[in-house]
Amino acid sequence: MYRLADARAVAVTQPWWQRGAIYQIYPRSFADSGGDGVGDLPGVLGKLDHLVDLGVQALWLSPFYPSPMKDFGYDVADYCGVDGLFGTLDDFDALIAAAHARGLKLVVDWVPNHTSDQHPWFSDPGRAHFYVRREEPPNHWRTQFTHDGPAWSRDPGRGDVYLHSFLPAQPDLNWDEPEVREAMHATLRFWLDRGVDGFRIDVVYRLGKDPALGENEPGRRHDQDWPSIHPRLRAIRAVLEEFGEEKMAVGEIYLSTQSDIARYVAGGQELHMAHNFFLLEAQWSAAAYREVIAEWLELLGERGWAAWCLGNHDHSRLATRLGPARARAAAVLLVTLRGTPFIFQGDELGLQDVPIPPDRVVDVDGRDPERAPIPWTAGLGAGFTTGEPWLPIDPEADRVNAAVQADDPGSMLSLYRRLLGLRAAEPALREGPQGWLQAGEDVLAFSRGPELLVAVNFASEPRTARLGNGHAEVLVATGDRTGGVDLDALSLAPDEALVLRRDERER
Ligand code: GLC
Repeated sequence: MYRLADARAVAVTQPWWQRGAIYQIYPRSFADSGGDGVGDLPGVLGKLDHLVDLGVQALWLSPFYPSPMKDFGYDVADYCGVDGLFGTLDDFDALIAAAHARGLKLVVDWVPNHTSDQHPWFSDPGRAHFYVRREEPPNHWRTQFTHDGPAWSRDPGRGDVYLHSFLPAQPDLNWDEPEVREAMHATLRFWLDRGVDGFRIDVVYRLGKDPALGENEPGRRHDQDWPSIHPRLRAIRAVLEEFGEEKMAVGEIYLSTQSDIARYVAGGQELHMAHNFFLLEAQWSAAAYREVIAEWLELLGERGWAAWCLGNHDHSRLATRLGPARARAAAVLLVTLRGTPFIFQGDELGLQDVPIPPDRVVDVDGRDPERAPIPWTAGLGAGFTTGEPWLPIDPEADRVNAAVQADDPGSMLSLYRRLLGLRAAEPALREGPQGWLQAGEDVLAFSRGPELLVAVNFASEPRTARLGNGHAEVLVATGDRTGGVDLDALSLAPDEALVLRRDERER
């Protein structure tokens, strides 16, 4: 068994956010310590050992700030507090101390594009300029959710209209105003002062919009990705650098090409990483995956660094989209690609979307199935809560839970532990170059450094791959394969993925 401790003994050459995986916690659904059916910060603290045993480097907490919860916390009413549902600032301080004591970094979600309409700024007449307001809608911009509508709503108090890229209850901040930028930088400093190690920046590409509020045109949107975004990101980075070299910003970016996204990271002065969803949206084929991965690594070049993500709280779960066998192969890819793997809570258990009966639907955008509570144990409440859970518990929870999987070497949890342990033990997986191999139809294969090889069979049928000459040893397999393999005729089982080490004398 590879232990994280082995890797810590190795000289540190990379910043922490490149070294290991970052695990996303959606606090409402992680662990409920209070019995009200909603997860909370003490609940997270109580489960830190699960994250240590899993072998991740850091946790990213989705929003826990005071909020009316119209968008489950992505509508922030106070950037510098903790919602009573989740605990208190003292609970936050206790959590960060406990995480750091275990060698885990802590990243918080920062939602700078919009506040809640319940944020005191929104009703403050002295801060009307904090939002984008006009007498009448100046354009036909639309909201981003699936059931979209006009992005302008009338403020009943003032009589004017304001911009909201999401729900009417989420008014967009006016980032063209220096006072807004200053006020938002202050919220970053608030959390940096409390010791956070980085930020995930919500819909970051929306912080730059055409100040003239022009209409969107084919091939040119005016409501996002405006050039003003780039100086704004450099200023945000400068705030992080006031707190040292190792504070990290990863931004959520949905744009239509990877080269548009690369502009946010490749120069080394803006975001450290970008969540790019092209891989998540790619069709499950070796060719499609290779195209996305190769293009992204190429665009990032030497100065950029990839973040890889195959799931989050906004997308149907990996194991539902791909099926259980392919989700295992995808886990191998996620952890062995050059870059930082992001793991959405529960994907390490291979959780599926949970069916939500119509009377239990709570999200405005159909995202409840992937947000169902984590099953920790068998039994009522699945170890998540002693109360009535805010979303239904997975009907499979008695079979598919963390406790059962921890003792089963064939489980998804055991596979993730082996993969993350291997990554911690092998510098080549953390920093080595990635080179492509022409392995044959349906097989994606690449090297990490001179020794390690990864092969993924995207077909649900056996395939024979050619990875070169000589022999190799199986380090991690999606199935139960161990021992040696021939590289010139490597037979792969359906949906199988392998991490291999070339025999020394043949390198
Ligand atoms: C991001 C979040 C999503 C939220 C939206 C609006 O896309 O990930 O959950 O609804 O921003 O804040």
